[in-house]
Amino acid sequence: MTKQTLAAAPPCTLFLFGANGDLVKRLLMPALYNLSRDGLLDRNLRIVGVDHNPASAEDFAARLHAFMVERDKGGEGSAKCLDEKLWARLAKRLDYQTGDFLDPATYQALARRIDKTRHGNAIFYLATSPRFFPEVAQRLGQAGLLDESAGGFRRVVVEKPFGTDLASAEALNACLLKVMGERQIYRIDHYLGKETVQNILVSRFSNGLFESFWNNHYIDHVQITAAETVGVETRGAFYDSTGALRDMVPNHLFQLLAMVAMEPPAAFGADAVRGEKAKVVGAIRPWSAKMAQKNSVRGQYRAGKQGRKPLPGYRQEPNVAPDSQTETYVALKVMIDNWRWAGVPFYLRTGKRMSVRDTEIAICFKPAPYAQFRESELERPKPNYLKIQIQPNEGMWFDLQAKRPGPELVMENVELGFAYKDFFKMTPATGYETLIYDCLTGDQTLFQRADNIENGWRAVQPFLDAWAQGGEVHEYSAGEDGPEAGNELLTRDKREWHRLG
Ligand code: BG6
Repeated sequence: MTKQTLAAAPPCTLFLFGANGDLVKRLLMPALYNLSRDGLLDRNLRIVGVDHNPASAEDFAARLHAFMVERDKGGEGSAKCLDEKLWARLAKRLDYQTGDFLDPATYQALARRIDKTRHGNAIFYLATSPRFFPEVAQRLGQAGLLDESAGGFRRVVVEKPFGTDLASAEALNACLLKVMGERQIYRIDHYLGKETVQNILVSRFSNGLFESFWNNHYIDHVQITAAETVGVETRGAFYDSTGALRDMVPNHLFQLLAMVAMEPPAAFGADAVRGEKAKVVGAIRPWSAKMAQKNSVRGQYRAGKQGRKPLPGYRQEPNVAPDSQTETYVALKVMIDNWRWAGVPFYLRTGKRMSVRDTEIAICFKPAPYAQFRESELERPKPNYLKIQIQPNEGMWFDLQAKRPGPELVMENVELGFAYKDFFKMTPATGYETLIYDCLTGDQTLFQRADNIENGWRAVQPFLDAWAQGGEVHEYSAGEDGPEAGNELLTRDKREWHRLG
C-alpha cells in the first residue's frame, strides 16, 4: 500500500483535543508533517488545537516547531531533517482554540470554525486523558457537531486506552453510539499503523503457500511477544493503575493475534476485515477463574542492569506506590475455539525492562517425523519456526534445519529471511501517517470496531477477575526476560520461548 500514488485527502477541519499533550507533539504533528511533505493533505485542511491553556495559533505553532527541531537534534522519533519550508506550509494551517472540554461554550466556538471551504467536514481527535472521552463525545453530540445531514462528514477519533475492563469498554461504546454511528467512530490502536502489522494480512492472503499449512495440522503453537527495554518512564501514575495486561494485551497483542489467526476476509474492505478479526478474538476461550490463574504469570521488575548501567526497580520509579503489586510483565496461554486452531495454544508475553526490544510473532511448526534418523544426532530435530518480526528489525524469517557440509551427518539451524531494509526504502514514519490519512479519507479498516474491542476485553476479564482474588506477582531483575515462572508456563507444556532478538 504505497501512499505515493494516492490523492490528497479531502479538506476538513481537524480538531485536536488535548493539543498541549505529548501525543500531539510527539506523534500526531510529525505524522501530519510527513503527510504534508508527501502531498497527501488538501491545501484547505485546517488543524485546530483545542485545550484549556490560553494560547494563540502562533504560540501553538511555535511550541510544536520547537519540539520538531529538538527531536531532530536529539534523534528522537522519526521526523528527522525538518525542512523549514515544508514546516512553514504546515504551520499556516494551524490554529488554536482555548476551551474547557466540559464547557458548552467551547463547542459553540468549534462550530463557528467549521465552514464551507472544507465542505463542512470535521474530525474530532480525542488525544486527551481517557476520562474526557465520554464527556467530549456527549458535548459534541449535544452541540450538533456530529450531525452529517448537511453533507459534510463528522468523525471522532478515540485514542487508547478504550476502557479498563469489559464493563467500562461496553459503557464507553454505548455512550459513543448514543451520539454517533459506528461509521463515524475511529478507535485507534497504533499497532495497526505499523507496516509490519499490515503486512501480516498481505503475506498470509496474497501468497497461496501460507494457507496450505496455516492450521492445527501443521502448527504446534504460536508465540506473540512484545518485549521492551524501557521502564515506565514518566508515566508511573498511569501505569501503576493500569499494568502490563491492560496496557498491551486486549489491544496490541490481540491485534497481532487477530492478524495471525483470522480467517481470510471476503474482501479487503473495512467490514469484511473487521468482521473476521472480531470473530477470531471472540473465539478465544473464556477461562474459568482457576484456569485463568493457571494460565497466566505476572511479574514486576526489581533493580537490575542493562549492560553496565544500573536500573531502578519498578517501585522506585516516580509516581509508583512503594508497595505496588502492579505487573510490568505478563505471560498468558490462550486457546482459540474454532476449527482452524483447535488444540493450538497461543502464548502471549509482554514486559517492560526486558533484555531487548523485540516485538515478534513466532509460529512453531510440528516436528518432522524422525524415525529415519534414529541412529544419528538428528533423532530429535528442532522445530521449525516462522518468525514475523514487527520491530525493530522488521522482516520475516524461517528457521530451518540444514546439513552442515562434511562427511558427518550433522544438522544446523539456518535462516531463510526477508528484511524490509533489503527490499524497500523505508522513509521515517511515526506509524500515525496511514491512520490519519485513512481517517481523512473514511477508511475504517485499520480502526477497531466496537465488537472487536469488547471481545478483547471479554477474553482478558477472567485474568483480571482471577488476579483480584490473589496470586503471586513474581519478581524479575530489570534487564532480564521476565520471571522464571514465565518460562515454566511453556516448559510445563514441553515447549520453550523462542529466543528474543
Ligand atoms: C502503548 C503502551 O500503547 O504502547 C506503552 O501504553 C508501550 O506502555 C507502547 O510502551 C508500545 O508501543 P511500541 O509501538 O513502542 O511497541
